[in-house]
Amino acid sequence: MASHRFSSVSEEEPCCDISRKTKICLCVFFGLLIVVVIAVPVGILMWPRPHKEWKGEGTTAHFYEILMGRCYTYTQIVRPELGHKDCQKIGKAFTSAFLSKDPCSSTEQDYEPLMELTNQAVPCNKTLFWSKSSQLAHDYTRVRQNMFTLEDTLLGYMADGLRWCGDSGSSDMNYKSCPNWREDCSNNSFSVFWNTVSKRFAEDACGVVHVVLNGSISNPFDERSTFGRVEVFNLRPEKVHRLQAWVMHDIGSAGSDSCSSSSINVLKWILKERSIAFSCENNYGPIRLLQCVKNPEHPSCRF
Ligand SMILES: *[C@@H]1O[C@H](CO)[C@@H](O)[C@H](O)[C@H]1NC(C)=O
Ligand SMILES: *[C@@H]1O[C@H](CO)[C@@H](O)[C@H](O)[C@H]1NC(C)=O
Ligand SMILES: *[C@@H]1O[C@H](CO)[C@@H](O)[C@H](O)[C@H]1NC(C)=O
Repeated sequence: MASHRFSSVSEEEPCCDISRKTKICLCVFFGLLIVVVIAVPVGILMWPRPHKEWKGEGTTAHFYEILMGRCYTYTQIVRPELGHKDCQKIGKAFTSAFLSKDPCSSTEQDYEPLMELTNQAVPCNKTLFWSKSSQLAHDYTRVRQNMFTLEDTLLGYMADGLRWCGDSGSSDMNYKSCPNWREDCSNNSFSVFWNTVSKRFAEDACGVVHVVLNGSISNPFDERSTFGRVEVFNLRPEKVHRLQAWVMHDIGSAGSDSCSSSSINVLKWILKERSIAFSCENNYGPIRLLQCVKNPEHPSCRF
């Protein structure tokens, strides 16, 4: 009896052993199969794909940190009356406008939430546009603190000089390259942003609005510039009484009368069509003084 039991156990053992091994083998096999079937596609989807390569410079290093720092600097120190603005929300709305999206199909709607969070009233008579005269116009508003260029408003201040873009295949910013307006695509996230904020800046302007133009180049009014393409056409005739142009010549360049040049005539004509009055002054005194501060020795700066 005992021997039979033993023999039967010993007889069964190889059989049981095989079936257990088979079971283990099957388990391992199916286990691996599941891992392969699930993990490989997931891995392919999640694996960071290289960003597309563009002709333009990539996103500015530390883009988000710069954006946040500027938002707090502006709302707490530069214009504390905007201290109620929520910089965290603004930063999120900014990046949501372009992350995980094709940087060549950016739209005004992408930036709509950001626009709503950063609305800001510029007082009438205090808007200053500029074209090809960035340095001088900003020197001027630095001194005349109650006048505003786009870069003196919250959103312009935050984005000034930065570059950014995302990629439809990734949730990261592309720090290597971003689409260039000329060579890659016109509706890129960067250009669409500036067109959108410039449009709003012009739409909001009221009273007498001003523009600093560069009289030392052949076309002080350039129809392809942001001012000539976007801002002039988005001024609201019902609230803009007049556009005052200040055409500034570089110190030492031959003093020509740019206000009567053909390029300024084009501007005059566009505004006439839009029922907005226009006036033009060469070398506006207060801005001329600023130019002289930088060139005190020049003969034309001896008063
Ligand atoms: C804007 O300027 C015009 C012309 O100089 C003036 O009549 C008007 O009162 C000014 N508006 C404000 C709000 O200062
Ligand atoms: C005019 O444009 C030239 C060339 O870009 C620049 O060097 C100069 O500073 C500008 N002048 C003014 C008055 O903005
Ligand atoms: C860029 O966007 C504008 C406005 O959405 C559209 O009218 C235009 O056709 C677009 N241009 C290109 C090249 O896609």
